[in-house]
Amino acid sequence: MEAIAVTRLAHVDVAVTDLDRSTEFYNDRWGLHLVEEHDGRRYFRSNTSDFHTLSIGKGDPRLEHLCLEVSSRDELKRAEVVLEAAGAEVLAPYTEGAKPGVGASLRFKDPNGLEVELVADVQQLKEGYGARDVKPQGLNHAVLRVTKYEETKRFYRDVLGFRLSDETENTMAFMRCNQNHHSLAFVNSDQASLHHIAYTVEDWSALAVGIKTLGDAGICRIWGPGRHGPGNNVFSYYQDPDGHVVEYTCELQQIVDESAWVPQVWKRGRPEKWAGLGPPDILH
Ligand SMILES: [Fe+2]
Repeated sequence: MEAIAVTRLAHVDVAVTDLDRSTEFYNDRWGLHLVEEHDGRRYFRSNTSDFHTLSIGKGDPRLEHLCLEVSSRDELKRAEVVLEAAGAEVLAPYTEGAKPGVGASLRFKDPNGLEVELVADVQQLKEGYGARDVKPQGLNHAVLRVTKYEETKRFYRDVLGFRLSDETENTMAFMRCNQNHHSLAFVNSDQASLHHIAYTVEDWSALAVGIKTLGDAGICRIWGPGRHGPGNNVFSYYQDPDGHVVEYTCELQQIVDESAWVPQVWKRGRPEKWAGLGPPDILH
């Protein structure tokens, strides 16, 4: 059966211990904008027309859902058939209007038990929002720790249509669903959890402004700035008030010619081209 046509990473839903404290971080410091509060969840947009790229709800800190967009409502209906044929556990069937900002959605479990949502018809906002020191231009990628590394790579390839872009020897797989070198990456681990999410910033200058203004606010970077090997992107990593790791990034490699791309296996260890600070234990 033909794989589901995932077009991009849409948003992530995470649980946080204190909604106000996290709102202060994501709205006032990170540069997102609180769009809506609904049923105890808060929805944040970034500097694109998409309704949101992040939602937070109160609970023990964790990733609640990883949300991927598909090309249409018809494709979303077909996705349910594909998932069931693949033996995936569908938690919520195709539903319209179940949550703010998306026209239709369904939810399932991936091989690691992580909850993944597929959405179609993301609501588009007409107006921009107020000034921020840095305005992230959208969600760039999400990285997950997974317990079933090989099975996960096969599942996201065969069922969700992702392609392997690069890999670090049995440690980390970078996968794409569009030209972005990776919209998802998977870390071979003994737990299934969120590793980090990354927001695109405009350029090096915006990244430097972020480093300065977050630093001035007492929010110190935990890794970077630097330039990764796989993906060649410039990065700087932080933690939100609950320890969720968030990254500002720019210049991620774009894969324009699918037929010409050959995945590279990078050596384990430190494949960064250059970097300030070292990655903390939480990034293993
Ligand atoms: Fe990243």
